[in-house]
Amino acid sequence: MLPYGHQSIDESDIAAVANVLRSDWLTTGPSVTAFEEDLGRLCGMSRAVSVTSGTAALHVAYAALGIGAGDEVVTTPLTFVATASCASVLGATVVFADVCEDTGNLDPQSVSAAMTVRTRVVAGVDFAGHPIDAKALAEVAHAGNATLLEDAAHSIGGSLDGRPVGSLADVTTFSFFPTKNLTTAEGGAVVALQGDTVDRARSYRSIGLVRDPAVLRLPNEGPWHQEVHAFGLNYRLSDVLSALGSSQLLRLPSFKAARTEITARYNQGLAGIDELRLPACRQGADPMWHLYPLRIRDGRRRALFEHLRANDIGVQVNYLPVYRHPVYADLGYKSGMCPVAEEYYEQEISLPLFPGLPDADVDRVIDLIRGFVGA
Ligand SMILES: Cc1ncc(COP(=O)(O)O)c(C=O)c1O
Repeated sequence: MLPYGHQSIDESDIAAVANVLRSDWLTTGPSVTAFEEDLGRLCGMSRAVSVTSGTAALHVAYAALGIGAGDEVVTTPLTFVATASCASVLGATVVFADVCEDTGNLDPQSVSAAMTVRTRVVAGVDFAGHPIDAKALAEVAHAGNATLLEDAAHSIGGSLDGRPVGSLADVTTFSFFPTKNLTTAEGGAVVALQGDTVDRARSYRSIGLVRDPAVLRLPNEGPWHQEVHAFGLNYRLSDVLSALGSSQLLRLPSFKAARTEITARYNQGLAGIDELRLPACRQGADPMWHLYPLRIRDGRRRALFEHLRANDIGVQVNYLPVYRHPVYADLGYKSGMCPVAEEYYEQEISLPLFPGLPDADVDRVIDLIRGFVGA
């Protein structure tokens, strides 16, 4: 089966990991610091905190923003469940706003209509790698005294109007799962413009432990002493995986070039077919395409999915609107509440896309789809 996503690991990545395995630090050491600095530089000098997954990044980000019971988080239904569920597990109420018909990204007008005095965070997702409309969403969020969070699990390496993803929103989260644009096996990061958010995120991912003598509240316990001022969890990324992350960051430009090239090949091969809708790219956006989200408009998405799977093409569907997951349905969220996202989901099928995907395989996928729709 041709996978829809696959990591790219080369000898430089393996050497970077092996070097750490031979060193004194397997975790909480210099490779973690170096990876966080590398990430900060990529994100236009934002500060970065590494964590163990994209889900952990969202949990840490919401916790660092102090989200809890009585607060509302406005987000998109067209995403992996963690964008919403990490706010829910902290006790916040998730409010779903609809998406833009072209990109599948959060619609600023729909967000504006969904906001109340309790809205603390607006959480957009760079669906498929296309950056959110950060300027409009920040305006709407800030007008209501809310923070703009960008779930950039799909889009590290992209930019909008010349500004890198990681510098567009107040807080940005990343995932480094193997199918993503770069990988640390499991991993993620929180990036923020405000230093105090970064400090709270760093504390939360390290159990809330405080060692700095300047701020200890029990300063006379002794030299071994550490204490907790605010609750947290252990979401620390190891040095072994951080070294892989830094090595992958060096390769990010080549990953981007490969993803751009494959996307262009699909665009060309599938152009001019009435039944199909190809991914949109807005002016000013330079996406890091994580997915190739094709839409088929004739109601035959499932049949196309089964046809491609039967031909050993590992397609996916992204995403079931989050409120339709039984955990949200059980809370009273109703199907159909975001009609644009519902229609997007009904039509969407993600085609294989990863660096190293041979042109011949891209062409085979194109031919199978053209054959299916009779083009
Ligand atoms: C949009 C989005 N957010 C968050 C996540 C969670 O990332 P992870 O799998 O690293 O926990 C994913 C991963 O699938 C994702 O696609």
